[in-house]
Amino acid sequence: MKQFDFPVNEYRAQFPILQRLIDDKPLIYLDNAATTQKPRRVIEKMNKFCYEYNANIHRGAHYLTEQATEAYETARTKVSHFIHAKNPGQCIFVKGTTEGINLVAHGFESLLKPNDEIIVSQIEHHANIVPWQQTCLKTGAKLKVIPCFDNGELDLNILESLMSDRTKLLAITHVANAIGTVNPVKDIIQRAHAHHIPVLIDGAQAVPHMTVDVQDLDCEFYVFSGHKLYGPTGIGVLYGKAEWLDRIPPYQTGGEMITSVTFEKSTFKTWPYKFEAGTPPVIEAVALGEAVDFLTEIGLDHIHSYENKLLRYATNLLGSIPGLQIIGQAKDKACIISFTLDNIHPHDIGTVLNHHGIAVRTGRHCAEPTMTRFGVVGTTRISTGLYNTYEELDKVVEGIQQVITIFRGPA
Ligand SMILES: Cc1ncc(COP(=O)(O)O)c(C=O)c1O
Repeated sequence: MKQFDFPVNEYRAQFPILQRLIDDKPLIYLDNAATTQKPRRVIEKMNKFCYEYNANIHRGAHYLTEQATEAYETARTKVSHFIHAKNPGQCIFVKGTTEGINLVAHGFESLLKPNDEIIVSQIEHHANIVPWQQTCLKTGAKLKVIPCFDNGELDLNILESLMSDRTKLLAITHVANAIGTVNPVKDIIQRAHAHHIPVLIDGAQAVPHMTVDVQDLDCEFYVFSGHKLYGPTGIGVLYGKAEWLDRIPPYQTGGEMITSVTFEKSTFKTWPYKFEAGTPPVIEAVALGEAVDFLTEIGLDHIHSYENKLLRYATNLLGSIPGLQIIGQAKDKACIISFTLDNIHPHDIGTVLNHHGIAVRTGRHCAEPTMTRFGVVGTTRISTGLYNTYEELDKVVEGIQQVITIFRGPA
Protein backbone atom coordinates (compact mmCIF):
# COMPACT_ATOMS: atom_id res chain seq x y z
CA MET A 1 0.00 0.00 0.00
CA LYS A 2 1.49 3.35 -1.04
CA GLN A 3 1.45 6.43 1.15
CA PHE A 4 2.83 8.94 -1.36
CA ASP A 5 -0.38 10.95 -1.35
CA PHE A 6 0.06 11.65 2.37
CA PRO A 7 3.69 12.18 3.48
CA VAL A 8 3.16 10.36 6.74
CA ASN A 9 6.87 9.85 7.45
CA GLU A 10 7.44 13.58 7.17
CA TYR A 11 4.72 14.13 9.77
CA ARG A 12 5.94 11.29 11.98
CA ALA A 13 9.38 12.91 12.16
CA GLN A 14 7.77 15.87 13.90
CA PHE A 15 6.68 13.75 16.88
CA PRO A 16 9.71 13.07 19.13
CA ILE A 17 7.92 10.41 21.18
CA LEU A 18 7.50 8.21 18.09
CA GLN A 19 11.25 7.56 18.23
CA ARG A 20 10.85 5.72 21.54
CA LEU A 21 11.42 2.02 21.94
CA ILE A 22 9.09 0.03 24.19
CA ASP A 23 10.53 -3.34 25.21
CA ASP A 24 13.18 -2.74 22.51
CA LYS A 25 10.45 -2.42 19.86
CA PRO A 26 9.52 0.79 18.08
CA LEU A 27 6.49 2.38 19.71
CA ILE A 28 3.28 1.85 17.74
CA TYR A 29 0.90 4.31 19.26
CA LEU A 30 -2.73 3.44 18.54
CA ASP A 31 -4.44 4.99 21.56
CA ASN A 32 -5.16 8.33 19.95
CA ALA A 33 -8.79 8.45 21.04
CA ALA A 34 -7.49 8.59 24.62
CA THR A 35 -4.94 11.26 23.84
CA THR A 36 -2.74 12.18 20.88
CA GLN A 37 1.01 12.73 20.86
CA LYS A 38 2.41 16.26 20.55
CA PRO A 39 4.50 17.53 17.67
CA ARG A 40 7.78 19.24 18.50
CA ARG A 41 6.46 22.68 17.58
CA VAL A 42 3.67 22.40 20.18
CA ILE A 43 6.16 21.36 22.86
CA GLU A 44 8.50 24.17 21.83
CA LYS A 45 5.69 26.70 21.89
CA MET A 46 5.09 25.92 25.57
CA ASN A 47 8.82 26.21 26.31
CA LYS A 48 9.06 29.50 24.44
CA PHE A 49 6.18 30.93 26.43
CA CYS A 50 7.88 29.96 29.70
CA TYR A 51 11.35 31.09 28.62
CA GLU A 52 10.38 34.39 27.02
CA TYR A 53 7.03 35.88 27.99
CA ASN A 54 5.51 34.09 30.92
CA ALA A 55 3.13 36.42 32.76
CA ASN A 56 -0.44 36.47 33.89
CA ILE A 57 -2.87 37.83 31.33
CA HIS A 58 -5.40 40.65 31.20
CA ARG A 59 -3.81 42.30 34.23
CA GLY A 60 -0.97 44.69 34.86
CA ALA A 61 0.58 47.06 32.38
CA HIS A 62 4.01 45.55 31.84
CA TYR A 63 5.45 44.26 28.62
CA LEU A 64 5.31 40.55 29.44
CA THR A 65 1.66 40.62 30.39
CA GLU A 66 0.86 42.37 27.12
CA GLN A 67 2.72 39.71 25.15
CA ALA A 68 1.13 36.84 27.09
CA THR A 69 -2.35 38.34 26.69
CA GLU A 70 -1.82 38.78 22.99
CA ALA A 71 -0.63 35.18 22.61
CA TYR A 72 -3.68 33.91 24.53
CA GLU A 73 -6.18 35.94 22.50
CA THR A 74 -4.41 35.01 19.25
CA ALA A 75 -4.88 31.36 20.19
CA ARG A 76 -8.58 32.02 20.69
CA THR A 77 -8.78 33.55 17.23
CA LYS A 78 -6.95 30.55 15.70
CA VAL A 79 -9.32 28.14 17.38
CA SER A 80 -12.33 30.13 16.21
CA HIS A 81 -11.09 29.99 12.61
CA PHE A 82 -10.40 26.28 13.02
CA ILE A 83 -14.05 25.52 13.81
CA HIS A 84 -15.38 28.40 11.67
CA ALA A 85 -16.97 30.31 14.54
CA LYS A 86 -18.27 33.75 13.62
CA ASN A 87 -16.61 35.51 16.53
CA PRO A 88 -13.54 34.43 18.57
CA GLY A 89 -15.35 35.41 21.77
CA GLN A 90 -17.75 32.53 21.21
CA CYS A 91 -14.86 30.15 21.95
CA ILE A 92 -14.51 29.77 25.71
CA PHE A 93 -11.30 28.19 26.96
CA VAL A 94 -12.10 25.38 29.38
CA LYS A 95 -10.10 22.48 30.80
CA GLY A 96 -11.44 20.02 28.27
CA THR A 97 -14.59 18.46 26.87
CA THR A 98 -15.70 17.29 30.31
CA GLU A 99 -15.50 20.77 31.79
CA GLY A 100 -17.21 22.30 28.74
CA ILE A 101 -20.18 19.95 29.08
CA ASN A 102 -20.33 20.50 32.83
CA LEU A 103 -20.37 24.26 32.23
CA VAL A 104 -23.44 23.98 30.00
CA ALA A 105 -25.10 21.37 32.24
CA HIS A 106 -24.64 23.72 35.20
CA GLY A 107 -26.11 26.57 33.14
CA PHE A 108 -29.19 24.52 32.31
CA GLU A 109 -29.94 23.99 36.00
CA SER A 110 -31.47 27.44 36.06
CA LEU A 111 -33.42 26.86 32.84
CA LEU A 112 -35.06 23.49 33.55
CA LYS A 113 -38.27 22.63 35.38
CA PRO A 114 -39.51 19.27 36.68
CA ASN A 115 -40.51 16.92 33.83
CA ASP A 116 -38.54 18.82 31.22
CA GLU A 117 -36.42 16.44 29.17
CA ILE A 118 -32.85 16.18 27.90
CA ILE A 119 -32.02 13.71 25.13
CA VAL A 120 -28.68 11.95 24.83
CA SER A 121 -27.73 8.84 22.85
CA GLN A 122 -26.83 5.30 23.79
CA ILE A 123 -23.28 5.67 22.45
CA GLU A 124 -22.08 8.64 24.50
CA HIS A 125 -18.90 8.96 26.54
CA HIS A 126 -19.69 9.23 30.26
CA ALA A 127 -18.77 12.93 30.02
CA ASN A 128 -21.93 13.48 27.96
CA ILE A 129 -24.17 11.41 30.23
CA VAL A 130 -23.27 11.99 33.87
CA PRO A 131 -23.40 15.84 33.90
CA TRP A 132 -26.92 15.69 32.41
CA GLN A 133 -27.94 13.07 34.92
CA GLN A 134 -26.79 15.37 37.70
CA THR A 135 -28.67 18.29 36.18
CA CYS A 136 -31.80 16.11 36.00
CA LEU A 137 -31.39 15.11 39.64
CA LYS A 138 -31.19 18.75 40.69
CA THR A 139 -34.09 20.00 38.55
CA GLY A 140 -36.50 17.08 38.28
CA ALA A 141 -35.91 16.90 34.52
CA LYS A 142 -35.69 13.49 32.83
CA LEU A 143 -33.03 11.93 30.64
CA LYS A 144 -34.17 10.25 27.39
CA VAL A 145 -31.91 8.05 25.29
CA ILE A 146 -31.74 7.52 21.51
CA PRO A 147 -30.94 3.83 21.00
CA CYS A 148 -28.55 2.52 18.38
CA PHE A 149 -28.86 -0.30 15.87
CA ASP A 150 -26.59 -3.35 15.92
CA ASN A 151 -24.19 -1.61 13.53
CA GLY A 152 -23.72 1.31 15.95
CA GLU A 153 -25.81 3.85 14.02
CA LEU A 154 -28.46 5.80 15.92
CA ASP A 155 -32.14 5.09 15.35
CA LEU A 156 -33.29 8.50 14.16
CA ASN A 157 -36.94 7.39 13.92
CA ILE A 158 -36.89 6.91 17.66
CA LEU A 159 -35.25 10.30 18.05
CA GLU A 160 -38.27 11.77 16.24
CA SER A 161 -40.62 10.07 18.68
CA LEU A 162 -38.60 11.25 21.71
CA MET A 163 -38.69 14.96 20.85
CA SER A 164 -41.55 17.03 22.26
CA ASP A 165 -42.18 20.45 23.71
CA ARG A 166 -40.80 19.08 26.99
CA THR A 167 -37.38 18.54 25.36
CA LYS A 168 -35.06 21.36 26.38
CA LEU A 169 -31.75 20.08 24.97
CA LEU A 170 -30.29 17.38 22.77
CA ALA A 171 -26.70 16.51 23.74
CA ILE A 172 -25.01 14.16 21.33
CA THR A 173 -21.58 13.04 20.29
CA HIS A 174 -20.23 13.82 16.83
CA VAL A 175 -18.06 10.68 16.81
CA ALA A 176 -18.60 7.85 19.30
CA ASN A 177 -15.38 7.28 21.22
CA ALA A 178 -15.89 3.57 21.88
CA ILE A 179 -17.08 2.38 18.47
CA GLY A 180 -16.22 5.14 16.00
CA THR A 181 -19.71 5.91 14.63
CA VAL A 182 -19.83 9.32 12.94
CA ASN A 183 -23.30 10.61 13.73
CA PRO A 184 -25.11 12.61 11.03
CA VAL A 185 -25.07 15.62 13.33
CA LYS A 186 -26.14 18.18 10.74
CA ASP A 187 -29.29 16.19 10.01
CA ILE A 188 -29.87 15.61 13.73
CA ILE A 189 -29.50 19.33 14.48
CA GLN A 190 -32.03 20.18 11.73
CA ARG A 191 -34.49 17.67 13.17
CA ALA A 192 -34.03 19.13 16.67
CA HIS A 193 -34.41 22.70 15.42
CA ALA A 194 -37.69 21.76 13.76
CA HIS A 195 -38.89 21.25 17.37
CA HIS A 196 -37.04 24.39 18.62
CA ILE A 197 -34.62 22.21 20.61
CA PRO A 198 -31.05 23.49 21.08
CA VAL A 199 -28.22 21.02 20.46
CA LEU A 200 -24.86 20.46 22.15
CA ILE A 201 -22.32 18.46 20.15
CA ASP A 202 -19.52 16.60 21.91
CA GLY A 203 -16.78 16.99 19.33
CA ALA A 204 -13.93 15.39 21.32
CA GLN A 205 -13.42 12.61 18.78
CA ALA A 206 -14.41 14.59 15.69
CA VAL A 207 -12.08 17.60 15.59
CA PRO A 208 -8.87 15.53 15.17
CA HIS A 209 -10.28 13.65 12.19
CA MET A 210 -12.45 15.98 10.10
CA THR A 211 -13.20 19.58 9.23
CA VAL A 212 -15.76 21.04 11.62
CA ASP A 213 -17.79 24.11 10.73
CA VAL A 214 -19.99 25.14 13.64
CA GLN A 215 -21.85 27.74 11.58
CA ASP A 216 -22.68 25.21 8.89
CA LEU A 217 -23.75 22.67 11.52
CA ASP A 218 -25.77 25.43 13.21
CA CYS A 219 -25.34 23.78 16.65
CA GLU A 220 -25.92 25.81 19.80
CA PHE A 221 -22.84 24.38 21.55
CA TYR A 222 -19.76 22.45 20.38
CA VAL A 223 -17.14 21.12 22.81
CA PHE A 224 -13.70 19.53 22.38
CA SER A 225 -10.38 18.84 24.15
CA GLY A 226 -6.93 20.09 23.14
CA HIS A 227 -5.07 16.92 24.13
CA LYS A 228 -6.94 14.83 21.56
CA LEU A 229 -6.01 17.42 18.93
CA TYR A 230 -2.21 17.11 19.19
CA GLY A 231 -2.23 19.90 21.80
CA PRO A 232 -1.59 19.81 25.55
CA THR A 233 -3.77 18.54 28.37
CA GLY A 234 -5.64 21.01 30.55
CA ILE A 235 -7.18 22.96 27.68
CA GLY A 236 -10.34 22.60 25.66
CA VAL A 237 -12.92 24.73 23.94
CA LEU A 238 -16.60 25.36 24.42
CA TYR A 239 -18.19 27.11 21.44
CA GLY A 240 -21.62 28.63 21.97
CA LYS A 241 -24.11 30.66 20.00
CA ALA A 242 -24.23 34.23 21.29
CA GLU A 243 -27.81 34.09 22.57
CA TRP A 244 -27.04 30.94 24.57
CA LEU A 245 -23.83 32.32 26.03
CA ASP A 246 -25.92 35.30 27.12
CA ARG A 247 -28.56 33.04 28.62
CA ILE A 248 -26.53 30.67 30.73
CA PRO A 249 -25.01 31.90 34.00
CA PRO A 250 -21.29 31.66 34.85
CA TYR A 251 -20.06 28.24 35.90
CA GLN A 252 -17.39 29.52 38.26
CA THR A 253 -16.98 32.97 39.72
CA GLY A 254 -14.04 34.97 41.04
CA GLY A 255 -11.32 37.14 39.56
CA GLU A 256 -11.14 38.32 35.96
CA MET A 257 -14.78 37.57 35.11
CA ILE A 258 -16.30 40.55 36.92
CA THR A 259 -16.89 44.19 36.06
CA SER A 260 -17.47 45.28 39.66
CA VAL A 261 -17.51 43.74 43.12
CA THR A 262 -18.95 45.08 46.34
CA PHE A 263 -19.94 43.09 49.43
CA GLU A 264 -23.56 43.50 48.38
CA LYS A 265 -23.32 42.54 44.73
CA SER A 266 -21.03 41.67 41.82
CA THR A 267 -21.55 42.22 38.13
CA PHE A 268 -20.05 40.05 35.41
CA LYS A 269 -18.26 40.67 32.13
CA THR A 270 -19.75 39.30 28.97
CA TRP A 271 -18.51 36.11 27.33
CA PRO A 272 -15.92 34.72 26.86
CA TYR A 273 -14.61 36.23 30.14
CA LYS A 274 -17.85 35.58 32.02
CA PHE A 275 -16.94 31.88 31.76
CA GLU A 276 -13.20 32.16 32.38
CA ALA A 277 -12.92 32.86 36.11
CA GLY A 278 -9.44 32.97 37.60
CA THR A 279 -6.12 32.55 35.81
CA PRO A 280 -6.84 30.48 32.71
CA PRO A 281 -4.52 27.77 31.30
CA VAL A 282 -2.58 30.34 29.29
CA ILE A 283 0.40 28.20 28.26
CA GLU A 284 -1.89 25.37 27.21
CA ALA A 285 -4.16 27.68 25.21
CA VAL A 286 -1.20 29.18 23.35
CA ALA A 287 0.10 25.68 22.56
CA LEU A 288 -3.35 24.61 21.38
CA GLY A 289 -3.20 27.52 18.93
CA GLU A 290 0.06 26.03 17.63
CA ALA A 291 -1.51 22.58 17.29
CA VAL A 292 -4.34 24.12 15.32
CA ASP A 293 -1.81 25.81 12.99
CA PHE A 294 -0.05 22.47 12.52
CA LEU A 295 -3.29 20.73 11.56
CA THR A 296 -4.46 23.56 9.35
CA GLU A 297 -1.18 23.44 7.42
CA ILE A 298 -1.61 19.70 6.78
CA GLY A 299 -5.33 20.10 6.09
CA LEU A 300 -8.07 18.28 7.96
CA ASP A 301 -9.54 17.03 4.69
CA HIS A 302 -6.23 15.30 3.88
CA ILE A 303 -6.05 13.80 7.34
CA HIS A 304 -9.65 12.63 7.02
CA SER A 305 -9.09 10.93 3.71
CA TYR A 306 -5.82 9.28 4.87
CA GLU A 307 -7.38 7.98 8.08
CA ASN A 308 -10.34 6.66 6.09
CA LYS A 309 -7.91 4.55 4.10
CA LEU A 310 -6.32 3.32 7.33
CA LEU A 311 -9.81 2.47 8.59
CA ARG A 312 -10.65 0.41 5.50
CA TYR A 313 -7.26 -1.32 5.57
CA ALA A 314 -7.50 -2.21 9.28
CA THR A 315 -11.15 -3.29 9.01
CA ASN A 316 -10.29 -5.72 6.19
CA LEU A 317 -7.29 -7.13 8.02
CA LEU A 318 -9.07 -7.57 11.33
CA GLY A 319 -12.19 -8.96 9.63
CA SER A 320 -10.14 -11.89 8.33
CA ILE A 321 -9.10 -13.05 11.84
CA PRO A 322 -11.30 -15.96 13.00
CA GLY A 323 -13.18 -15.27 16.22
CA LEU A 324 -12.63 -11.49 16.02
CA GLN A 325 -15.75 -9.30 16.10
CA ILE A 326 -15.63 -5.62 15.31
CA ILE A 327 -18.08 -3.79 17.56
CA GLY A 328 -19.63 -0.94 15.61
CA GLN A 329 -19.85 -1.20 11.84
CA ALA A 330 -21.56 2.07 10.96
CA LYS A 331 -21.33 3.17 7.33
CA ASP A 332 -19.69 6.40 8.43
CA LYS A 333 -16.90 5.79 10.93
CA ALA A 334 -13.77 7.49 12.18
CA CYS A 335 -10.69 5.27 12.43
CA ILE A 336 -11.63 4.00 15.87
CA ILE A 337 -11.98 0.23 15.84
CA SER A 338 -13.22 -1.71 18.85
CA PHE A 339 -13.08 -5.46 18.77
CA THR A 340 -13.46 -8.59 20.86
CA LEU A 341 -11.73 -11.96 20.43
CA ASP A 342 -13.71 -15.07 21.39
CA ASN A 343 -12.87 -16.16 24.95
CA ILE A 344 -9.88 -13.83 25.31
CA HIS A 345 -10.14 -10.91 27.70
CA PRO A 346 -9.33 -7.46 26.25
CA HIS A 347 -6.82 -6.90 29.04
CA ASP A 348 -4.87 -9.99 27.92
CA ILE A 349 -4.90 -8.72 24.34
CA GLY A 350 -3.62 -5.32 25.44
CA THR A 351 -0.87 -6.89 27.55
CA VAL A 352 0.47 -9.06 24.73
CA LEU A 353 0.29 -6.18 22.24
CA ASN A 354 2.20 -4.04 24.72
CA HIS A 355 5.10 -6.54 24.51
CA HIS A 356 5.17 -5.74 20.79
CA GLY A 357 5.47 -2.02 21.57
CA ILE A 358 1.82 -1.51 20.58
CA ALA A 359 -0.28 0.86 22.70
CA VAL A 360 -4.02 0.24 22.48
CA ARG A 361 -6.83 0.90 24.93
CA THR A 362 -8.71 -1.92 26.59
CA GLY A 363 -11.81 -1.85 28.78
CA ARG A 364 -15.03 0.12 28.70
CA HIS A 365 -13.62 3.34 27.24
CA CYS A 366 -15.70 5.50 29.63
CA ALA A 367 -18.74 4.29 27.70
CA GLU A 368 -20.31 1.65 29.89
CA PRO A 369 -23.80 2.00 28.34
CA THR A 370 -22.26 1.30 24.91
CA MET A 371 -20.63 -1.86 26.25
CA THR A 372 -23.94 -2.92 27.81
CA ARG A 373 -25.74 -2.30 24.51
CA PHE A 374 -23.37 -4.65 22.71
CA GLY A 375 -23.32 -7.21 25.53
CA VAL A 376 -19.57 -7.05 26.14
CA VAL A 377 -17.57 -6.38 29.30
CA GLY A 378 -15.10 -4.35 27.32
CA THR A 379 -13.24 -4.24 24.03
CA THR A 380 -9.78 -3.66 22.66
CA ARG A 381 -9.71 -0.36 20.80
CA ILE A 382 -7.36 0.77 18.06
CA SER A 383 -7.60 4.47 17.28
CA THR A 384 -5.35 6.15 14.75
CA GLY A 385 -3.78 9.54 14.45
CA LEU A 386 -2.32 11.28 11.43
CA TYR A 387 1.07 9.60 12.06
CA ASN A 388 -0.03 5.97 11.92
CA THR A 389 0.89 3.75 8.99
CA TYR A 390 -0.32 0.66 7.16
CA GLU A 391 2.82 -1.16 8.37
CA GLU A 392 1.87 -0.45 11.96
CA LEU A 393 -1.55 -1.98 11.36
CA ASP A 394 0.15 -5.07 9.90
CA LYS A 395 2.12 -5.34 13.14
CA VAL A 396 -1.09 -5.18 15.15
CA VAL A 397 -2.44 -8.13 13.21
CA GLU A 398 0.79 -10.07 13.84
CA GLY A 399 0.42 -9.23 17.53
CA ILE A 400 -3.18 -10.45 17.57
CA GLN A 401 -2.11 -13.70 15.88
CA GLN A 402 0.34 -14.15 18.71
CA VAL A 403 -2.38 -13.47 21.29
CA ILE A 404 -4.44 -16.22 19.68
CA THR A 405 -1.50 -18.63 19.69
CA ILE A 406 -0.77 -17.92 23.36
CA PHE A 407 -4.34 -18.31 24.54
CA ARG A 408 -5.68 -20.95 22.16
CA GLY A 409 -2.56 -22.79 21.08
CA PRO A 410 -1.08 -22.96 17.54
CA ALA A 411 -3.63 -23.18 14.69
C1 LIG B 1 -16.48 11.56 22.93
C2 LIG B 1 -15.76 12.03 24.17
N1 LIG B 1 -16.33 12.95 24.95
C3 LIG B 1 -15.73 13.43 26.05
C4 LIG B 1 -14.50 12.97 26.42
C5 LIG B 1 -13.85 13.55 27.64
O1 LIG B 1 -12.74 14.28 27.25
P1 LIG B 1 -11.75 14.91 28.34
O2 LIG B 1 -11.35 13.76 29.23
O3 LIG B 1 -10.64 15.46 27.54
O4 LIG B 1 -12.53 15.96 29.07
C6 LIG B 1 -13.86 12.00 25.66
C7 LIG B 1 -12.55 11.45 26.06
O5 LIG B 1 -12.17 10.38 25.69
C8 LIG B 1 -14.51 11.53 24.50
O6 LIG B 1 -13.93 10.61 23.71
